[in-house]
Amino acid sequence: MNSENPKKKHWFEKAIIYQIYPLSFKDSNNDGYGDLKGIIEKIDYIKELGANAIWLSPFYESPMKDFGYDVSAYKKVGEVFGAFEDIERLISEIHQRDMKVIIDLILNHTSEEHHWFKEARSSKDNSKRDFYVWRSGREEAGQKKPPNNWLSVFGGSAWDYDEATDEWYLHSYLSSQPDLNWRNPELKKEMFKVIDFWLTLGIDGFRGDAIDNIYEDSEFTDEESNPNFRVGLDDPYNALIHSKTTGLPETIKLITEISEYIKKFGDIFFITEAYLDVNGLANVYNNCPVSNHSPFNFNFVSMPWQAKKYKEFIDKYIEISGDFPKNYVFGNHDRNRVTSRLGEKRALALALLSMFLPGSTFVYYGDEIGMINIDIKDGEELDEWSKNVPGMNLNRDKERGVMQWDNSEFAGFSFVKPWIGMPKKQEEINVVIEKNNPKSILNFYKKIIALKKEKIFTEGEYQPLPIFEENVLFFKRVLGDKSALIIINMSDKEISIPEQNNGSLAISSYRDNPDPQSPLRPNEARVLM
Ligand code: GLC
Repeated sequence: MNSENPKKKHWFEKAIIYQIYPLSFKDSNNDGYGDLKGIIEKIDYIKELGANAIWLSPFYESPMKDFGYDVSAYKKVGEVFGAFEDIERLISEIHQRDMKVIIDLILNHTSEEHHWFKEARSSKDNSKRDFYVWRSGREEAGQKKPPNNWLSVFGGSAWDYDEATDEWYLHSYLSSQPDLNWRNPELKKEMFKVIDFWLTLGIDGFRGDAIDNIYEDSEFTDEESNPNFRVGLDDPYNALIHSKTTGLPETIKLITEISEYIKKFGDIFFITEAYLDVNGLANVYNNCPVSNHSPFNFNFVSMPWQAKKYKEFIDKYIEISGDFPKNYVFGNHDRNRVTSRLGEKRALALALLSMFLPGSTFVYYGDEIGMINIDIKDGEELDEWSKNVPGMNLNRDKERGVMQWDNSEFAGFSFVKPWIGMPKKQEEINVVIEKNNPKSILNFYKKIIALKKEKIFTEGEYQPLPIFEENVLFFKRVLGDKSALIIINMSDKEISIPEQNNGSLAISSYRDNPDPQSPLRPNEARVLM
């Protein structure tokens, strides 16, 4: 167990962290791809929004089969994103504005084009061979078969046959993303050098990509079938129970080790990606009690819009995380846009809820102006996952549309056609128009972000309250003799609420000024102070 005092204050505990998908944010050189110089042009926008930190999705050298999550050189900037000096400048510009910067750390796999993998596949005795996970296959009726039944998250077997060396390599994601072998001490050392490299450059945190898949069972035995799997209805990856390939105890140990290690560089945050329910999160918090680590809480991207479900989750989450950092995510580059998933009313109520719970809140670029999924024409799909697993609505291009800065043809992202689809409804959903409209979604976000910084929300205790009429979620934040009441009507009907002890309205997700005692409108959220 860790002896550190978890009550020590850290910059990330109550931060608003703005996620940028660099390819889609701003194209400075009009080649259709977003780049680092583009982000530099727009930092003041993020500062004005009120974010405390920026998380940059990958900008490393990459053949772009998974749009940067397939890294071919960890210490280089991909040509499409700009030059190395651009990332140095971006970090410094972010710091000058008193904001922090988090970068993606892709630990589970590299690109097949990384020189380690090129060397590894060149021969069985190459010194880099064991940097990856290789196994002999099986033979059935004279046919070569993979070593076991493990599946790739992105479709098909998790193994690919390498003819030259007559062995199979593991890939939890695309076959062009071979899994690294963290049981090899040399590989581990190299990855810690990557960590050192970026921390020395001054970044303030890492987002640990695909951490759940890092280790696999060393016996390499088959995984069991999932009895609840519905053929044809569910993502085929869910046909198995992933007890041998995800969430191994070694993974949590590594998370702890990295979190402890990065502390020597200052107040450095480590946030790790795994889609866990509250029990899974509890397991991580219990086994990795480190004050600079937080497992991503993605529950708000998938939970049904029901007050009871939300309350159960939230109360338990706050309890199990204790004094350790908490976080709320309602959108990212892997899930459909929140406004498209839930509709505008619920999306705004959820944004409000996520701001006023204790912890940090992630805002996915464009959600703050109400961006919706873009349309991807048949045959123009880019995401390899959905190409491998068609018919399951898995295409992630939709949530990766370009940031809509203005109402022009390419939404002010670029003067040329973007790398991905076309902007959607940029005549009404864009920064320029929303900036000037006090009732816009952008100005609503600015207000909830500013409010989140008030002491009652940074310091106040979370006090749960009973659900009202099965549909209204209530809770309080209390600090000394002050309190704030947060109310969310999670139904499609109007609900009259009991008298709210004279609190005055701080904000409504309807972006107007209702009498605080007036009935709640469908899916309306209010803060009373
Ligand atoms: C993470 C990323 C996702 C990527 C995958 C494989 O889940 O968020 O975008 O495709 O890892 O690297």
